[in-house]
Amino acid sequence: MRDQADKLREMALNLKNQIEAEIGKDNKKQTRVIVVSSGKGGVGKSTLALNLSLSLSILGKNVILLDADLGMANIDIMLGLVPQYNLYHIIKGNKTLKDIIVNGPAGLRIIPGGSGLDELANLNDEELNRILVEMGKLDGECDFMIVDTGAGISNNVIRFLLAADDVIILTTPEPTSLTDAYGTVKSIARNGFNGSVFLVVNRVSKETEGVLVAQKFKLVGEKFLDLDIKILGHILHDPQVESGIRRQEAFIQAYPNSIAAKNIMYLAEKLIDEDNADNVVKPLPVKKGGIRGFFKKVTSYKQP
Ligand SMILES: Nc1ncnc2c1ncn2[C@@H]1O[C@H](COP(=O)(O)OP(=O)(O)O)[C@@H](O)[C@H]1O
Ligand SMILES: [Mg+2]
Repeated sequence: MRDQADKLREMALNLKNQIEAEIGKDNKKQTRVIVVSSGKGGVGKSTLALNLSLSLSILGKNVILLDADLGMANIDIMLGLVPQYNLYHIIKGNKTLKDIIVNGPAGLRIIPGGSGLDELANLNDEELNRILVEMGKLDGECDFMIVDTGAGISNNVIRFLLAADDVIILTTPEPTSLTDAYGTVKSIARNGFNGSVFLVVNRVSKETEGVLVAQKFKLVGEKFLDLDIKILGHILHDPQVESGIRRQEAFIQAYPNSIAAKNIMYLAEKLIDEDNADNVVKPLPVKKGGIRGFFKKVTSYKQP
């Protein structure tokens, strides 16, 4: 007679095969997953994640924004949206992807991470399966998934960074922000991250400041971390960014002619160029992990 342990083993094996079959099928087109991080809080991560996602949408890309920041001005508040459900409800099997997705402007779709974010570290097989199957539905449908993270390099943030295809590190020209951004880059480099690291300098007072700060950061990365940091660009300090927030509208739409909006549109264009170039160098299916791959890594991250 088979004992309980045998049955459990068999169940686990079936589940594993089911997950792998789901992951393996359809690797026609993978979503590029880009995680936005900084180190220090309040440098403009959520502002960038939202407005960059919108710019990519406006430029004709299919974009999903995952709100993995439980901070103050998170994405829903910035847009005046009231999400009812979040990743937690998918994990627990109460809701499907369709139920939790929030429709934003310009065709942008937003996934609220909410209380589900804490759960991602400790899923059982069934919960893992739900996340991979539900989120995986977006693979092949979206060009980009942008992930906004909270401040710091807690395990929860590192987990997302290491699972990304690429990361965008955001800093301001302030020394404390630069030090924290460097710390973040260092810790992902030490953990073997092999995607692209893009740098964006926010709240610069003039163009030359943006260029200089970025160049310096890049040199330090090369010298001390042996890392090729790609400069994506900079965003000028622009009071219209704050006005947009007060109107609960993304400034890229509220003030499309503002200097910061033009800066971000330029970053989006560069990312698209980069993605196109990358598709030539690294043809599918090897180049990206896609959304399934991303969640697989996020959930299996083990604290060193
Ligand atoms: N380029 C900018 N010019 C002016 N204000 C900005 C700029 N970028 C961000 N801000 C403001 O900085 C504050 C913090 O931004 P936020 O995106 O919430 O930061 P984070 O997500 O990193 O904590 C917000 O009030 C936002 O309006
Ligand atoms: Mg934020």
